[in-house]
Amino acid sequence: MKTKLPVRSFSRALVSLAITAIALSLNLPDLRAQAPAAGGPPAPPLTAAAMKGKTAGKFYRNVKVLKDIPAADLHNAMEYINVTLGVGCAYCHTIGKFDSDNKREKNVARSMMRMTMALNASVFDGKREVTCFTCHRGASKGAPTPVFPGEKSPTEPTAAEIVPPLAVRNITKLDPGMSPSKAPATVVSGPAAAPKPMAVAPASLPAVADVFSKYTQALGGTAAIGKVTSLVEKGTVEMLVPPPPGPQGAPPVPPAIGTVPAEIDRKLPGKVVVSAQFPGRAPNREGFDGIIGWIGPRELTGSELALRREFAEFPPASKFMEDHFQVQVDAMEKIGGRDAYRVVGKRPDGSAIDRLYFDAQTGLLLRSYTTMQSVLGSFPEETNYDDYRVVSGLKVPFTMVVVDPEGKQTYKWSQVELNTPVEDSRFTKPLPPPPSPTPAAD
Ligand code: HEC
Ligand code: HEC
Repeated sequence: MKTKLPVRSFSRALVSLAITAIALSLNLPDLRAQAPAAGGPPAPPLTAAAMKGKTAGKFYRNVKVLKDIPAADLHNAMEYINVTLGVGCAYCHTIGKFDSDNKREKNVARSMMRMTMALNASVFDGKREVTCFTCHRGASKGAPTPVFPGEKSPTEPTAAEIVPPLAVRNITKLDPGMSPSKAPATVVSGPAAAPKPMAVAPASLPAVADVFSKYTQALGGTAAIGKVTSLVEKGTVEMLVPPPPGPQGAPPVPPAIGTVPAEIDRKLPGKVVVSAQFPGRAPNREGFDGIIGWIGPRELTGSELALRREFAEFPPASKFMEDHFQVQVDAMEKIGGRDAYRVVGKRPDGSAIDRLYFDAQTGLLLRSYTTMQSVLGSFPEETNYDDYRVVSGLKVPFTMVVVDPEGKQTYKWSQVELNTPVEDSRFTKPLPPPPSPTPAAD
């Protein structure tokens, strides 16, 4: 369902995995990791297969608000919270004890979920209009009062402390007449305003089939594309890099922008592995083997899995027509100073619209844009392609810039090989690390 850009998510996940693992001296966040209750049933494995058909309330140990969503959708909601509040998982959880309610922030977050859902249900006709981002805007504290330009939102409770306690006790009793859709229409007097001219008259836009066939030609043609069995890209990625491991007990050092070796291998159809080498650490790897998507030993589900599946394809966006419906060219936009045709298409589940931007002149793909969907809300991800060079008769982008609300990763390839043999085992999920001898510190 997501189109394209899986990369970005890949990178973001790489960073968060690295940071979580490092900051908490765990190799792998086993999301429910904890000893099974004495005599109780062992916890089911955290695999996509074990989650299938189960609700979050049934699968996880302590999910109360999101209990009716599919178990496979819970992780996306957690990623979404990280992005909208600008925090990591450990802000609300003790890693390794995700079911525990031992942190105040987790309990606040649960009431925030209830509040947000109640607002949408009672005031916004059940539509997801208010999200965590509506108020938080990437910061963990809501901002009750506007701030001066350049200032940050207050980090301590402010206005909330000095106003009387909320008069409305039961939010579900709000008058449904408050819905904006029930508000009286604005009365316009005088002649109706002339409609705004469109940037480009639709008639001047090409048919979507022509845009894709020009893309195919620009890359080197159907025959050259059809011959691709594998693609190995080696070079660097500039991104947030975690520092090398410090001495035991040293305060965690935050990651900083840096450039490290990176590699992406693909085997067609549908296998990919992305790795980045952070200083002083084992390579961070994540992949998709055609069925199972993984980040370290964690299996991916929902939106995250769909992203990897699409990212495994080459050339980028080559399955867009198959994976979307109502695909059409709907506008012309400037991308990096170049005229680009914008192609839009709905995901099969109707959850969102993805976009591609093709250079109007060269026909090459300049950008793909998608959104990461979760039950709580969504956030955008974009991948930009540049520096196309010919490798074995095919044009391959040597620069890929992945942008999301948490930052940007710039991949630059120095070596790209087509059709070199790659072992299938490279794409399979690594085995979980042996249990650590000492319990993880809180
Ligand atoms: C702002 C707080 C917050 C952050 C940040 C957060 N979570 Fe959660 N998490 C919650 C809340 C609240 C629940 C319980 C939801 C409910 O009751 O419906 C939860 C539940 C969970 C559960 C279910 C545990 C169980 O067995 O009951 C897992 C697993 C989980 N979170 C993983 C993560 C991961 C991984 C991250 C980082 C990607 C993360 N969370 C980030 C607040 C947070
Ligand atoms: C209507 C606005 C609004 C929405 C929507 C909202 N929040 Fe909040 N949130 C706030 C405000 C305001 C505060 C600060 C309260 C305070 O400081 O006492 C806050 C505080 C929090 C805190 C505690 C921060 C701290 O350090 O004390 C967490 C965690 C949190 N929100 C999570 C969420 C999550 C997760 C969502 C989405 C499910 C969400 N919020 C949706 C307004 C909102």
